[in-house]
Amino acid sequence: MARRSVPPTLAWLAMLIGLAVLAAFIGGVTLYVEARARSRTQAQAITGGHVDAGRTAITRRGCGSCHDIPGITGASGMVGPPLSKMATRRHIAGGLPNDPETMIRWLMHPRQMRPGTAMPEQGLSEAEARSISAYLYTLD
Ligand code: HEC
Repeated sequence: MARRSVPPTLAWLAMLIGLAVLAAFIGGVTLYVEARARSRTQAQAITGGHVDAGRTAITRRGCGSCHDIPGITGASGMVGPPLSKMATRRHIAGGLPNDPETMIRWLMHPRQMRPGTAMPEQGLSEAEARSISAYLYTLD
């Protein structure tokens, strides 16, 4: 039986489709990476903190014992609300506006902002609070 070879136009077509799929994939990955970098830069600009320092502080302070926090290993606490999507929420702590300065003050002094809250005063420095806020605002 004679081997049927693929007609050359079909082979070209297949190759073009393959290239188009590859280009779309690379484009998608690039967009994703750019969007992540942009959200990082923005989070740092609005808080004056550093995302990586925030991640370290969250781990060191043990916030994950009370909160479920995306991207932090072992942070799966259920005492407080999950801290996912902090970049897109309108309110924190049941009614405070979700803006950077409020978030920073909340992290430093939750009991001053909302007497009786179960979130403890943890003696955070302003630098820690700014960096933790930067990390939280990358979570969209
Ligand atoms: C002992 C448990 C506990 C610890 C530890 C804790 N929190 Fe909380 N947190 C809470 C509780 C409870 C609330 C809800 C407070 C309220 O609504 O009054 C809260 C609220 C919050 C909120 C507002 C979230 C929302 O959607 O309303 C943020 C942000 C937050 N905590 C961040 C942190 C960070 C960052 C740390 C570590 C520095 C931390 N928390 C440590 C218990 C805790």
